[in-house]
Amino acid sequence: MSVKIAPSILSADFARLGDEVRAIDAAGCDYIHIDVMDGHFVPNLTFGPPVIKCIRPVTAKVFDVHLMINPAQPYLEQYAAAGADIITVHAEADAHLDRSLQVIRSLGKKAGVSLNPSTPESVIEYVLDKADLILVMSVNPGFGGQKFIPGQLDKIKRIREMIGGRNIELEVDGGVNLETVKAVVDAGADVLVAGSAVFNGDDYRVSIGALRAATGG
Ligand code: DX5
Ligand code: ZN
Repeated sequence: MSVKIAPSILSADFARLGDEVRAIDAAGCDYIHIDVMDGHFVPNLTFGPPVIKCIRPVTAKVFDVHLMINPAQPYLEQYAAAGADIITVHAEADAHLDRSLQVIRSLGKKAGVSLNPSTPESVIEYVLDKADLILVMSVNPGFGGQKFIPGQLDKIKRIREMIGGRNIELEVDGGVNLETVKAVVDAGADVLVAGSAVFNGDDYRVSIGALRAATGG
């Protein structure tokens, strides 16, 4: 199976963000993974719509916006306007996940649901018809460079079964590197977020190529 690689710009040099985005584009990434943190849902703060808007003209690649904010629903329109292509909300963040997904699709964007490591896959059972992507967190969200939580592999497998023949992508985020990537893909992931595994290398084309090679495809 051919997988998509989504480098997380959380690990980029923010002083040169535009150049970093250009570099991962040129290095052959599939999506640009954009981690939005509010210092409330997660214990870290990053950036919001104005920064996303600034980097939008730099690349034509898919902007995969991961909202680690609570609430998310009041801000969905701003992220759509800033240039997001996929908007992913956390199942734990707002009271009305079904409504958030409907709002995202009504804005003409792909709707994603993310699950923290402690959240069971059952929370997505009744929204699968409204989701375009499921994002399994394989670390507790907030920081790059954390260690992959192996117990999440079972969850990835179960969600792959739940998705069945539906047109839904299964993305995994956190601790994906050359050691863990094969198990993640074997469990059923088809989009891989990689922050430190891409940006810690000197040559992003080499880092992305090594990840693809380690999946066997
Ligand atoms: C964590 C973020 C991740 C993070 C991944 O809260 O959602 O996208 O940047 O970084 P690595 O790949 O270094 O674990
Ligand atoms: Zn993320």
